[in-house]
Amino acid sequence: MSEQHTLDGVNRIEYRPGLVGRFARILIPFLQRTLPSGLYRVTYDALYNGYKWTLRQSYLLRYAAAHVVGSREDKLRTSLTRKLLPYSMGGKKALENAFELTAKAERNNIPGSLVECGVAEGGTAAMIALTSRELGKTVRPKWFFDSYEGLPEPTAEDYEGGKVGNFIRPLPKGACLGTIEQVGELMFDTLKFPKDEVTLVKGWFQDTVPVKRDVVGQIAVLRLDGDWYESTKVPLENFYDNVSPGGYVIIDDYATCFGSRKAVDEFFAERNIKAPLFEDGRGGVWFEKPSL
Ligand SMILES: C[S@@+](CC[C@H](N)C(=O)[O-])C[C@H]1O[C@@H](n2cnc3c(N)ncnc32)[C@H](O)[C@@H]1O
Repeated sequence: MSEQHTLDGVNRIEYRPGLVGRFARILIPFLQRTLPSGLYRVTYDALYNGYKWTLRQSYLLRYAAAHVVGSREDKLRTSLTRKLLPYSMGGKKALENAFELTAKAERNNIPGSLVECGVAEGGTAAMIALTSRELGKTVRPKWFFDSYEGLPEPTAEDYEGGKVGNFIRPLPKGACLGTIEQVGELMFDTLKFPKDEVTLVKGWFQDTVPVKRDVVGQIAVLRLDGDWYESTKVPLENFYDNVSPGGYVIIDDYATCFGSRKAVDEFFAERNIKAPLFEDGRGGVWFEKPSL
């Protein structure tokens, strides 16, 4: 599924965009420089929506192929990815990675809840929840933390050389917005999860996560997707000890957001964690919590 790295500075994980990402990195700044701002926004949205539409159609083909030659998990992964792409900011690799690790947690009977900190419109949260519903033997509580007001401002810890990360577009306060109403509609109305199975916790992680740590209890899959230093550090410090040995921690922004990487590297050093990091193929990483 991915390359393995250790945090010894030798195998430093870097963000390596694919062909489309590399092309977008040239085209988008060019359009921003040359078009009036209103036209630029319309053009950007049209290109982004066109890309997402094309990608969704490609998943029809993948699903058809999986139907003929794939396993039950291949079929499920492709159909869920296609269904959830419109709700995802991380795209297909983030969705597929969330599927793989939740499926692994189910296969290995790792005890605990499913937790995401940084939900936006709910794409990866829904992937984790649906994968567990389809493949799990038991019903797991799902906890989805977000301000539901978009991103906070980055702090000084997020900056390296005047930049906060490797983005095509800047991420100002309020970016990546998904409201609690939108995510509630997805979880409860569209996907029909019972209200007592999925808890949406609204507020800044700094306020909500420490308060909910004991209520959440044991965790099988912890997905951190808050972009910034504080937004990675707070859930990691509060929830790491809740993660079951053999459970999975995913950090979506490790190679794309400088502060997220810093929070993880500092945490590994402080706690002397030796677990190898695996890449998700687009800048995110994951690791299995060691037993000791
Ligand atoms: C990149 S988006 C998450 C993408 C999402 N996982 C998906 O599947 O598309 C980052 C989210 O983290 C949330 N966030 C970041 N820092 C936060 C904080 N300190 N407290 C609460 N929410 C935060 C933002 O509101 C935003 O919804």
